[in-house]
Amino acid sequence: MEFSKDSLQHLLSGNRFVRAIDFHATVDSTNRVASNRAMNGAEEGTVIIADSQTGGRGRLGRVWQSPPGVNLYLSVILRPVIETFRAPQLTLMTGVAVAETMREYGGRDITIKWPNDVLIGGKKVSGILTEIRTERGKIDFVVVGMGVNINIEKALFHTDFRRTSTSLKEETARSHSRSRFTVRLLETFVTWYERYCAQGFAPVKKEWMEYAGITGKFIKVTDRDTVREGTVVGLDENGALLLKEPDGEATCVLSGDVTIIGE
Ligand code: BTN
Repeated sequence: MEFSKDSLQHLLSGNRFVRAIDFHATVDSTNRVASNRAMNGAEEGTVIIADSQTGGRGRLGRVWQSPPGVNLYLSVILRPVIETFRAPQLTLMTGVAVAETMREYGGRDITIKWPNDVLIGGKKVSGILTEIRTERGKIDFVVVGMGVNINIEKALFHTDFRRTSTSLKEETARSHSRSRFTVRLLETFVTWYERYCAQGFAPVKKEWMEYAGITGKFIKVTDRDTVREGTVVGLDENGALLLKEPDGEATCVLSGDVTIIGE
């Protein structure tokens, strides 16, 4: 199935959340476009999709490799009525939605690496970047950006990521329709978003913990120049990682890269 505005509009016509689809053959960053649209009043449920990005944004100022014809680059505008400090929970919720969609597609050994990497067999298949704008202490909008490696082949990955990244095609040994994947992802996403709005973070946290499987593991978290080590105790209500450091001190980690050192 073709990956175009028409096919996506047709396939997403029954989705109760999607209000408008903005499709670009190429764009700098769907997150940038979504923020811009939201700033100009675009409503919740506006979805920006691109076939390729020239300035795909990753977490911690990194670049998200975004070649044409193979992957999904998608940003969703949300206007949730929640306290500002809860916004990171939406990243974890989106991770669960992506992981669930991957599982449905037959991906085996799906895990989530805190805070936002979805992995198949320990290799990154998707990343999530959440950006938020507040006004007078309240959330004006949240942009949730999802990059999903669908049909990219190993050889096309930048050498820096070749060892640590994968795609749905590499893992399932066949190509997948990006349009159909988008439809399933947005269906799963809206189910989780509605559940989150109605029931809060608890169901997301429960599912996330199952995918993450890091409770009790000894990890290292690197955030620019700071390195912390400790045993994962759980997630707090804001989605921060709770660690017990070797000296027994409890600490909560809000950002950084996680490496599992041991059980
Ligand atoms: C990460 O793992 O570092 C997050 C990557 C997020 C990439 C997606 S692709 C769609 C959206 N637009 C962007 O510029 N970034 C996100």
